[in-house]
Amino acid sequence: MTRILMVCLGNICRSPLAQGVMEQRLRKTGLFRSVYVDSAGTQGYHVGESPDPRAVEAAARRGYDISVQRARRIRDGDFQSFDYILAMDHDNLHQLTARCPGPEVERLKLLMDFAPGPDAQEVPDPYYGGEDGFERALDLIEAAVDGLVLEIKAR
Ligand code: 4NP
Repeated sequence: MTRILMVCLGNICRSPLAQGVMEQRLRKTGLFRSVYVDSAGTQGYHVGESPDPRAVEAAARRGYDISVQRARRIRDGDFQSFDYILAMDHDNLHQLTARCPGPEVERLKLLMDFAPGPDAQEVPDPYYGGEDGFERALDLIEAAVDGLVLEIKAR
């Protein structure tokens, strides 16, 4: 089993979208039996909450259901139990790196490292902006998740 953890700040916008897109791709490719995906936030402001309604709606427009997800904060045990820990931006990658106990730092990457083009390194935080931030986040996440699926298939 390959285990993947998507990480953003609050676990109510970007990482739930990344989890939802990845789950759909895993079902489509039949990889859902061998790959598990979850998400978490580096901060705990929204623990136990559903994803942001704007994220739920933007996801639903593209056929992803993220409504059943609930926010949680990263736990120390995550660094051992996940093979890929993928941050949405540099700030959250730095937070993870500071907290990570040792050789597991190799598991920490940016989600956008898996996107084919060099256009973006981060999924920008859409929380304080308008609807188009969620569409942009989904465009970036879809491109990176497709690259991630190719890498996992090749393993
Ligand atoms: P996320 O977005 O990290 O993509 O879930 C945010 C959610 C909440 C906050 C900031 C970003 N906040 O400050 O509460």
